[in-house]
Amino acid sequence: MRALGSLLLLLITLPSVLAVKSQDFKTCSQAAFCRRGRALSARAKTSSTWRSPYSVDPSTIAIAPEEASFTAGVKSSIYPEVNFGLDVRVHKDGVVRVRMDEVGGLRKRYDEAASWALLAEPEISREIKWTAGKNEVRAVYGDKKEFEVVVAFSPLKVSLLRKGKEQVVLNGQGLLHMEHFRTKESVEKTEAIAEEGVDSDGSQVVMQQVNARAWFEGETEDGWWEETFSSWTDSKPKGPESLSLDISFPNHGHVYGIPQHATSLSLPTTSGESAYYSDPFRLYNTDVFEYLADSPMSLYGSIPLMHAHSTASTVAVFDAIASETWIDIAHGSPGATETHWISESGILDVFLIPGPTPADVFAQYTRLTGTPALPAHWALGHHQCRWNYISSDDVRDVQRRFDQADIPVDVFWLDIEYAEEHKYFIWDKKTFPDPVEMTKDVEAIGRKMVVIVDPHLKRTSNYPVYQSASDLGLLVKQKNGESEYEGWCWSGGSAWIDFFNPASWDWWKSLFKTEEDPNHWTWTESTVNTYIWNDMNEPSVFNGPEISMPRDNVHYGGWEHRDIHNINGMLLPNITSQALMARTDPSYRPFVLTRSFYAGSQRFGAMWTGDNLGTWEHMAVGVKMVLANNIGGFSFAGSDVGGFFGNPEPEMLVRWYQVGAFSPFFRAHAHIDTKRREPYLLDEPYKSMLRSILRLRYSQLPVWYTAFREASVTGMPVLRPHYVVFPKDEAGFAVDDQYFVGSSGLLVKPIVKKGVKEISVYLPEDQVYYDYFTHYAYHGAAKGKNVTIPAELYKTPLLISGGSIVPTRERPRRSSPLMAHDPFTLRVALDKSGGARGELYLDDGVTYAHQKGQFVWREFGAQKAGKGVRISSRNLASQKPAEAVDGVALATYDNANEFARSIAGVRVERVVVFGLAAKPMSVKVQGGAELSFEFTPGVAAAGREGGASVLVIKDPSVSVTRDWEIVVQV
Ligand code: NOJ
Repeated sequence: MRALGSLLLLLITLPSVLAVKSQDFKTCSQAAFCRRGRALSARAKTSSTWRSPYSVDPSTIAIAPEEASFTAGVKSSIYPEVNFGLDVRVHKDGVVRVRMDEVGGLRKRYDEAASWALLAEPEISREIKWTAGKNEVRAVYGDKKEFEVVVAFSPLKVSLLRKGKEQVVLNGQGLLHMEHFRTKESVEKTEAIAEEGVDSDGSQVVMQQVNARAWFEGETEDGWWEETFSSWTDSKPKGPESLSLDISFPNHGHVYGIPQHATSLSLPTTSGESAYYSDPFRLYNTDVFEYLADSPMSLYGSIPLMHAHSTASTVAVFDAIASETWIDIAHGSPGATETHWISESGILDVFLIPGPTPADVFAQYTRLTGTPALPAHWALGHHQCRWNYISSDDVRDVQRRFDQADIPVDVFWLDIEYAEEHKYFIWDKKTFPDPVEMTKDVEAIGRKMVVIVDPHLKRTSNYPVYQSASDLGLLVKQKNGESEYEGWCWSGGSAWIDFFNPASWDWWKSLFKTEEDPNHWTWTESTVNTYIWNDMNEPSVFNGPEISMPRDNVHYGGWEHRDIHNINGMLLPNITSQALMARTDPSYRPFVLTRSFYAGSQRFGAMWTGDNLGTWEHMAVGVKMVLANNIGGFSFAGSDVGGFFGNPEPEMLVRWYQVGAFSPFFRAHAHIDTKRREPYLLDEPYKSMLRSILRLRYSQLPVWYTAFREASVTGMPVLRPHYVVFPKDEAGFAVDDQYFVGSSGLLVKPIVKKGVKEISVYLPEDQVYYDYFTHYAYHGAAKGKNVTIPAELYKTPLLISGGSIVPTRERPRRSSPLMAHDPFTLRVALDKSGGARGELYLDDGVTYAHQKGQFVWREFGAQKAGKGVRISSRNLASQKPAEAVDGVALATYDNANEFARSIAGVRVERVVVFGLAAKPMSVKVQGGAELSFEFTPGVAAAGREGGASVLVIKDPSVSVTRDWEIVVQV
């Protein structure tokens, strides 16, 4: 049935099927190591006596005194002469790290992926004691001693249990295989002995070994020493070195994560009879032209983090591996998931993240790889991009037309055509004669400029950036390890900066200085309001294998490109964001958009989903992809509004802006061949619709900023799918077309289909949900319920869940910095028991002064009082100082800090209460005079479905920085 479904889907998405050049990219069967991994799994499945050949040698166990870490030697029965070392440790927060590497081998496997992904070396717990038995070692831990990690010796199996139930199991299916380094000659010799009995004494033993190896590794060598794909030959100088590992979740029926794929959030099956996709999910950063809207193919970025979820718990695994990785998923028995990870090279370095709640998993994962950086406030505004605004006058004109149409925008972007011959940093003076003046014109009302800087450098001596990189030896090398690699990209024959070379870091940072430096070239034709877009960093190489670099290219330290491919892309935004911070003292928060990413990239800026098509399918899958990135720790995500390719009709464009307005990163972008489609160009009524969507986004910036602050401190994602917010509500586990924004209580269901006038929204609990615009009260049910809500084109389906207080700023402005002193509106959505709460975080939005206590963090509360309600504001920062900023505990928080004083005059100008039982008799600020109000009768929060009562309290004259209470008496 599913196969039929996917066939139908394939036919429906035919235009994109025809567009993608699938033949440019490998399937698993075209990648030798993936073939080997899948063949191993097939042998295991068909053998009733399958048993992993890997086992721990009990005599080698060493338990570090006082530490929750132990090491042991591991042997594989099929290669008794090869040694492996296992290292298992439990971190302070209960995460278990499992590492295995070949010891004393012919070469070294790449073992630095984690060092790029991790924020810091995690702290190992000192409280956990391993107990060693005859057949296993185990450690019990956790506050309630409910967690247990067990390492079984023979065969080797690592299990994480909670309350006696298996959460994650490594090598439970016996698919672990770390191909050790070998030489072609030694393999040939062994084979010859086995075949011909050359060595009369040893041949029988050898024969047995060869048979055992054939049983486990297959009869024939498959692509061990060389491999061809299309016209490219990969020389594989190190021979086979792949890593296969099965990871099972015996008690979890849903898995999520491993972005980036254009697929559903709850990941479908890729193996077995009911496979939805025939190929495994692939992680190999690639520039896929016109990618499919429903596919396990790899895309621009890779985060090897997988959540597994059930009503009982959420757990996760993070596989810190930098090489190409394929992941098969099978939902064999109900409520269980088996996965199989096959990587081309690298050590085994897997983190078992115990949860047990989604919030625990986010905290544990972001403690490893970092929380998303708190963006500059303006970066949450509307970004206007196009390939290309063709001149400085064009930029000025676009800005003027936005202002004339009174449509808010914060950032104007320049794509590659600003650069002379695509030599990034170097303005084409024919079209951009006055870049600094142009940027200053954009800066006038606090707007910013983002300019593209790609990692490929045109190989020409009149390009100072290339020339100095070449002179300093900072470029990626060909397979001989000596000559500069040349490939083809936008700038023609190009070389690539090797950011693995530490010498490149300061060099790269120095380029971004806005002042002259007698010692080297600097970007004096930029300002501190010029921010950066890093594109093509997979890396994209037009004439390379799979539109990327040859795998046998050589990087700093002698590593082959294959070893580091998936982390390569993250180094550029990492160093670029540092470069932007180094431009001023003190630093401004950087903004860097990246196309390629890996685990940990969330620390450096934003990502987008690349070159989507202007189709409804792409709009729909973009929502899921952004959700998956949020699950992967990378909240600051969005997709090109309008679709990169194509000319969207007005209806589609309006819907796409609605999607953008509810994405953390909100940028309109278009391909060079498309017609201009800036919002002011649309006819009515569409232009007004876009204006009001953009104003809605701007009015809700306090919600987004507060959600980002929370993400930057706790790791909780900015966009939250149902399973994250209602982890026990099974009916919501596969829901991925509606989601919550931070902790705000806003539930949005973007419309991603043509002609929609109403839509069914899933309500996960027995609670009232109010339509944001009409205040109509819908009721969910304990086991979940679908309600139908109006969704005419001008309207994004948006609900506020009862129990939330949503702060907004409703004055229309042309850019977000102009809103810094605007008053607030509070929407108080009473829950069934008459209460509500909400939060608001504010700081200067651009510097790091918040880390020194310069911020305001408020909690708004509504408590039922008789039939009325008391609405209050209190300081949260002094209640929870340790959570105040970036996890840095503030010893003292000063309510009257300088920032708070600077906005002391900012008022709450309106409080709107939904669902009050009856018209109030009096509304007062505690200790103050009566306030004026308007009351529209309607249903109460605890009442039936229908238009809710709405109380509008006008100008209570309370400061947003102070404690206050408004008493509503009914
Ligand atoms: C590819 C990017 O994905 C796209 O957004 C950009 O416009 C082009 N490169 C040109 O720079």
